[in-house]
Amino acid sequence: MGFLNGKRALVTGVASNRSIAAGIARAMAREGAEVALTFQNDKLQGRVEELAKEIGSSICLPLDVASDEAIVGMYEALGREWPTVDVVVHSIAYAPREALSGSYLESVTRDGFTLAHDISSYSFAALAKYGREQFSERAALLTLTYLGAIRAIPNYNVMGPAKASLEANIRFMAADLGPSGTRVNGISAGPIKTLAAAGIGGIRQMLQHVAATSPMRRNVTIEDVGNAAAFLCSDLAAGITGEVIYVDGGYSNVGMSLT
Ligand SMILES: NC(=O)c1ccc[n+]([C@@H]2O[C@H](COP(=O)([O-])OP(=O)(O)OC[C@H]3O[C@@H](n4cnc5c(N)ncnc54)[C@H](O)[C@@H]3O)[C@@H](O)[C@H]2O)c1
Repeated sequence: MGFLNGKRALVTGVASNRSIAAGIARAMAREGAEVALTFQNDKLQGRVEELAKEIGSSICLPLDVASDEAIVGMYEALGREWPTVDVVVHSIAYAPREALSGSYLESVTRDGFTLAHDISSYSFAALAKYGREQFSERAALLTLTYLGAIRAIPNYNVMGPAKASLEANIRFMAADLGPSGTRVNGISAGPIKTLAAAGIGGIRQMLQHVAATSPMRRNVTIEDVGNAAAFLCSDLAAGITGEVIYVDGGYSNVGMSLT
């Protein structure tokens, strides 16, 4: 029997087999959760449906978080399948590619800044705002963040402020939703080669650097993140809310490595 037996988990953000959301969906299904997936657009629908088949999920819904109406529509459709939702995973981020390389000040623009915050941070609050009526008594929300929220990381640029905003969102949402029994947490993952990461300048060097200098001397995997996500969204983590848990092989804990 898995530790998510009987839970219904909505997992957003699958774009490929390598997406962090795919690792999370697999881990949650393995631990007994019923999983519903969303896809951003028609181009991604087929890939998401393939994963759904693999994990025995029958619910795949369209969701573009750029629109509140689309979020409301997704919850209406989900409500026709499930009376309540126990877990919502937000594994979504976006910034224009040209904002993710070179100097921060040279690459940042008003439009890029606004868009990155809208899609990568506001959307998490919106998923809670429009879904809360459907949350079960002991629901758990989870988002994915990165060290760039609290440190200046080369090329991460405007995603840094967007992730800082997302991490503040975690705390405000946890305070709002705690009294009704809902927990809100984030996982700060180390770099992983996914479609989103491929858009960040210097990602290869970043992966090599972390593998060479992190305490665990390796990069983390979507399985590492998936397992931590499954735990955080289960009743095993009933006392944890408002937290950002690092799944990064310990990289964020060291100040210097003399390898
Ligand atoms: N890969 C890494 O190194 C890493 C590290 C730490 C945190 N993260 C975070 O993990 C999350 C998932 O990213 P990933 O690395 O798995 O990449 P990914 O490209 O596989 O996933 C990003 C997802 O965001 C979705 N998305 C973007 N705009 C959207 C919109 N308007 N509406 C709905 N969905 C939208 C895409 O469809 C895609 O599924 C992101 O928040 C990312 O910042 C990634």
